[in-house]
Amino acid sequence: MGWEELLEEYRKRKEVVIQGGGKEKLQKIKESGKLTARERIEYFLDPNSFVEVGTFVEHRATVLGMDKVKAAADGVVTGFGTVNGRLVFVASQDFSVLGGSVGEMHAAKIARVQEMAMAYRAPIIIMNDSGGARIQEGVDSLKGYGDIFYRNVQASGHVPQIAIIFGPCAGGAVYSPALMDFVVMTNSAYMFITGPRVVEAVTGEKVTTEQLGGPNVHAEKSGNIHFVAETDQQALDLARQLLSFLPSSADERPPYIEPQDDPARLTPEVAEIVPAEANKAFDIRDFIRAVVDDGEFLEVQADFGRSIVVGFARLGGHTIGIIANQPAVMAGVLDIDSSDKAARFVRTCNAFNIPVVTFVDTPGYMPGTRQEYGGIIRHGAKLLYAYSEAEVAKITLIVRKAFGGAYIAMGSKHLGADVVFALPSAQIAVMEAEGGANIVFKKEIESAENPEKVRAKKIAEYRSEFLNPYVAASRLYIDDVIEPQFVRLALYNALEVTLTKKNAVGRKHGNIPL
Ligand code: HXC
Repeated sequence: MGWEELLEEYRKRKEVVIQGGGKEKLQKIKESGKLTARERIEYFLDPNSFVEVGTFVEHRATVLGMDKVKAAADGVVTGFGTVNGRLVFVASQDFSVLGGSVGEMHAAKIARVQEMAMAYRAPIIIMNDSGGARIQEGVDSLKGYGDIFYRNVQASGHVPQIAIIFGPCAGGAVYSPALMDFVVMTNSAYMFITGPRVVEAVTGEKVTTEQLGGPNVHAEKSGNIHFVAETDQQALDLARQLLSFLPSSADERPPYIEPQDDPARLTPEVAEIVPAEANKAFDIRDFIRAVVDDGEFLEVQADFGRSIVVGFARLGGHTIGIIANQPAVMAGVLDIDSSDKAARFVRTCNAFNIPVVTFVDTPGYMPGTRQEYGGIIRHGAKLLYAYSEAEVAKITLIVRKAFGGAYIAMGSKHLGADVVFALPSAQIAVMEAEGGANIVFKKEIESAENPEKVRAKKIAEYRSEFLNPYVAASRLYIDDVIEPQFVRLALYNALEVTLTKKNAVGRKHGNIPL
């Protein structure tokens, strides 16, 4: 056989692979405004960098007549390439081929790139668009899912794992994204354990696909995902941006980006953003943007547990993970959802050698039966655990209120913070003035001729004596009290400890979903 015949045979086979489920099906995907599986990879990676792995894989099933079906690449495109010149591994499910369903070889291809990502210490991005377990392949399909989940866990804390969901993601299939570090969902995606029909049959509840598992539900209510994107392109852009903040693996520091923004830039606007009065609300994100490099802040889980804000930014070119109480939402109280969100984020930062910078302004943990019955004790404990466990540099700035258990939990010196600063507006105490004075001076107030007058006097005394940063600073719990204009500079200088800390790189733990 000469070259001509060899190439003819090769091109014929390659054409079948590239065509996926056929021209008609690919056209249908394009008409719906989505990208095809191959287009997603092409858009995501640097031009000409994609190396395909398992191009000519076909399914091996012989049950239910599947041997007659040509399942191009078995419904998933896998391989590696670069993003901004850095190696990444990818798997992109092809809905045009048997609904992107997961059969034995489909799963084996994903498992292969998962293993390569671990071996070559690079992130893996799995693009989901699938009808779930391939029904015809029965238990081989379930085995395949098990293999993927197992490798998700093996890779956890070693290399960053990002899931992007572009279409259906149902049944047990949801657990691969759930085990990964970050989940992005587009507006046309949905994710649930059982679909609306099963829900109605079992519980009688009528619900739409969107209401049950649309992106907004997961972003706001369940907290299962981290980002929502309008389009396929936006989801892929987000994943690229996210990668820019992360190291390729736990063996490295995150990439240093030469700052355009002077680390010594003064931040006098902080005094305008933060009201000196503790009971006035403000948006902590304005504060964050004023302080970090070029005002760039990638907020993570923006719509979930909104009384705390978490996300990535840079300070003097170094990636930092920010955890900040949000006074604009329920005064920045710590509740079940915000505790889970913050604890998971601290652990994500620790896993990937990202210094944790904490801004504190919280009245404490949320009281009430709903929170107690929901396990605020257990959920709040996760935050204490995460901060105490974290070996990365921990730098904390107390902005205003830091009361009770929440003072301890929010990156205090007592949980191992490296450097703790406070603004002159900080208030550090067991509780706020009214509650504190009413308890401590109960007898004096009750036995006074004019209890209200004495109460007001005692509250004022408590406020001036305890509600400041100086008591804590006098005990070495706070390293320095700084002026608003020096916030950026002080944080940047404190970040120097990141360069000297032991165990600055190396795997610390997996990133279990909390
Ligand atoms: C085999 C499947 C399939 C599946 C879809 N297809 N899902 N083939 N196994 N699980 C095929 C269809 O037969 C069809 O083939 C093509 O994919 C496109 O599907 P359509 O139904 O035409 O598309 P659409 O109307 O967009 O609906 C998409 C869908 C629906 C909502 C995903 O196909 C669906 O409900 N599928 C079943 C979903 C499901 O219950 N999966 C099992 C979940 S349990 P043709 O040849 O006609 O184009 C699970 C367990 C995992 O996944 C356990 C892990 C531990």
